[in-house]
Order: sequence, then C-alpha cells, then structure tokens
Amino acid sequence: MPRDDDPEPRDRTGWQGLDEWRGDVGRRWAAASGTADAQFGWLSEATYRRLGPLGGTRVLDVGCGNGGTTRALARLSGRAGSVTGIDANAEVLAIAGGSAEATSSNGATITWLHGDAQTQPWPARHFDVVFSRLGTMFFEDAGAAFANLHRATRPGGRLAFTCWPAREHCPVLLVPLRALAGVVPLPPSAPAGSPNPFSLGDEADTMARLAAAGWRDVEVEHLHATLALPDALDDAVAHWLATIPVTLAVPHAEGSRRTAMAAALAAVVPADRRIDQRALLFTARA
Ligand SMILES: C[S@@+](CC[C@H](N)C(=O)[O-])C[C@H]1O[C@@H](n2cnc3c(N)ncnc32)[C@H](O)[C@@H]1O
Repeated sequence: MPRDDDPEPRDRTGWQGLDEWRGDVGRRWAAASGTADAQFGWLSEATYRRLGPLGGTRVLDVGCGNGGTTRALARLSGRAGSVTGIDANAEVLAIAGGSAEATSSNGATITWLHGDAQTQPWPARHFDVVFSRLGTMFFEDAGAAFANLHRATRPGGRLAFTCWPAREHCPVLLVPLRALAGVVPLPPSAPAGSPNPFSLGDEADTMARLAAAGWRDVEVEHLHATLALPDALDDAVAHWLATIPVTLAVPHAEGSRRTAMAAALAAVVPADRRIDQRALLFTARA
C-alpha cells in the first residue's frame, strides 16, 4: 500500500482501459453506481427518444454498468423482446444482475454477460439495436469493436450510443482535473487512440471509424444538460473525489494529500452547484 507521503502515484494511467474497469475503476464505479441513473438519465432518455419505439426488438446494452439502462430497455422492448447487457466489470454486473427488477415480468428477458464487447463472439446479425450510455469510449481498438458490433447487428438494425465530447468541452471532468493538477502529480494525457473518457470526442474521426466498420447513415447529435452537484460543499467535494477518474491516480490518498485534494476541489465547486455539460449521441444503421 503506498504511503501518504509517496511523491508519485502508483504506476497507472489514471484513465480507463479495460484493465482499470476490471480493477479499481470498476470497483469505484460499482460503489457509486446508485447515482448513475440520476446523473446520466438525460443521455439515455435522449437516446431512447432518438431510437423511437422498441417493442419486440433484440437489444444489446454495451458496458451496461449497474443495468439501469438495460432494465429500461427491457421495459421498452416488452415481453416480445430480449435484452443483453454486457460489462467487463464483474462487480458492477453483479449489482445489475442481482437486482430484483432484473426479473421484472413486465419487460423483455434480460441476459447478463461478463465480457469484452469488442471481442465477444456475438451471433451474426442477431441484434436489432445496439445501445450504449458512456460504455463505448474504453475499447482497446474502437474500429475492431465497431466492426464486431456491426457483425452482430441485423442488416438495417440500429446503433445508438452517447459519449463525452473532446476534453476541452467536458467541464464535468476538466474543472476538477485542473484543480487537482496543482496538488497531485497527474497522469499524462491519454495517448491518441487509447481508451479514455474523451476517446470518441472527435466527431469526424468517430464517424469515419464507424463508416469504416461498415455502419451507414452515421449521424451525430449534440446533447446539453445542466448537471447538479450536491448542495452541501462537503458533499460536492466528496462526490468529485469518489467519481472523477483522475482521483484514481492517487487511489489510496489519505491524510494530508486527501485534505489538499479536497481543498483544491472545494475552491472550484460552482457557487450554484451547476455545470453545463455537452455530450455526443452517435447513431447509425447496419
Ligand atoms: C462510464 S461506465 C457506464 C455504465 C453504464 N452504461 C451507465 O451509463 O451507467 C462504463 C462501463 O463500460 C464498461 N466497459 C468498458 N469497456 C468495456 C468493454 N470493452 N466491454 C464491456 N464493457 C466495458 C465498464 O466496466 C463500465 O461499467
């Protein structure tokens, strides 16, 4: 266990590749998973609206996390439909599959899969809809993943996923990140093409990757929302400390280091606790 006065964080990127989702990042995400639907509902609601009626469809939820969207998709596709939720992180998937709601008789049957959506040997031309909320930015090879998902989708089937825009348009991560930069050694920026929260934020590049993987009618829609941090300053700081990826660079930070990080974050919590945030909604047809 690193000591509190370690000059350097552990040797890690601080970003979110598959290994990290299978490890500490996933563990933290699982612990905070109760807030995912409240925080990110605006993304999935926009995606459902864009997809339109889903009754009777076979749906895949990529990087399904705690399964909030998977269960919503099961309700939307109804008893005649089926939904598969895949996630690389076993802990979060246990939360998803362990929920009593998962067996709701009002919706489609749900199959939970522990695996990598990029390499999973999906049945060919199986799904009508491939959906993801913030689960497609972490592929080791996005082109290979988009091609694998294309093979799994029936001709004419649809892809719809939301992701973060480029880093400079992502204050929900950038504001705390910049504040922490003065206090702890931050990991280097993720290299281009590597898995990280902003990896699909270059719209033209992502559209080109989707087209190269066989997807057609590729479109992108810009989404906007005002995100609310908890009212109490301490709660807002605690929320950031628990959820901002860069705090993973100092995963065992306690004592003085943690106090310094909390102070730096407290200084940039907006007075009205609100952050305007953008997101991208990509859609395409197989
Ligand atoms: C930011 S979380 C989003 C979770 C969920 N979609 C939500 O909106 O609440 C990203 C999720 O994608 C999963 N993930 C990342 N890469 C994956 C991959 N290659 N295959 C399957 N799941 C993956 C992570 O384990 C994590 O649960």
